[in-house]
Amino acid sequence: MADASSPALLSAEGLSSFYGRMHALKPTSFTVRQGELVTMLGPNGAGKSTLLRALMRLNKADGSVMFDGQDVSRLSTHELAELGMIMVQEGRGLFGQMSVRENLVLGAYTGRSASGIDSSLDRVFTLFPRLKERLNQISSSLSGGEQQMLAIGRALMAEPKLLMLDEPSLGLAPRVAAEILTTLGNLNKQGLGILLVEQKAPLALKLAQRVYVLSLGRIVAELPAKEIKSHHDLAQYYLH
Ligand SMILES: Nc1ncnc2c1ncn2[C@@H]1O[C@H](COP(=O)(O)OP(=O)(O)OP(=O)(O)O)[C@@H](O)[C@H]1O
Ligand SMILES: [Mg+2]
Repeated sequence: MADASSPALLSAEGLSSFYGRMHALKPTSFTVRQGELVTMLGPNGAGKSTLLRALMRLNKADGSVMFDGQDVSRLSTHELAELGMIMVQEGRGLFGQMSVRENLVLGAYTGRSASGIDSSLDRVFTLFPRLKERLNQISSSLSGGEQQMLAIGRALMAEPKLLMLDEPSLGLAPRVAAEILTTLGNLNKQGLGILLVEQKAPLALKLAQRVYVLSLGRIVAELPAKEIKSHHDLAQYYLH
């Protein structure tokens, strides 16, 4: 598991993004270390999705981003994905009329060998056996939890080095959300770097090694997850 001495996998310096004249993400700096699970917390409208979209260049952004030892500030979304920065978007972004299998295979990058794709599929089925049982089902007919599993499974098909997730527990029953977050924790234990954005999810804090709190487009706190309990205001807000 990552600790304070682990090298950075991702580091953003002064990442900033506007919608027209609205400065939704003020210059923001943060790090995800190799093998680390970082949770970014913040209320509605704090700028969490904007931050992820700015990182992935789905929104215009200023500032510099280093990933896996390389300056990626000028790369496109597609180039970032090819390097292993993969994001599961809010709302999951599945191809609703396609089957589970088709959605998964589309997650694998072109140029991968058939055997490479098969081994990624096996890994996804081990994590989410329910997807294997529903391979030919149209994805729009899956339950909300299954759709989130598929969205994560599809992201894993790209063999990410860093998996970023925008509120994966949104709209799910607590038990299903817990199942999904626990799986993310297990992936992290296997060494995957994860940047998890959530509004309010005590389990997302438990699984994290470090937490940032975003408010009105700024990071207002950074602390090891286990210390959040001793910060009365944060604990009040995020642990209930
Ligand atoms: N496409 C857009 N055009 C204009 N303003 C936007 C756009 N998207 C977001 N905003 C604004 O930017 C701010 C940050 O929004 P963002 O979606 O990043 O918040 P969030 O933390 O992800 O919130 P939520 O928890 O509701 O998903 C909000 O004030 C929002 O109204
Ligand atoms: Mg959002």
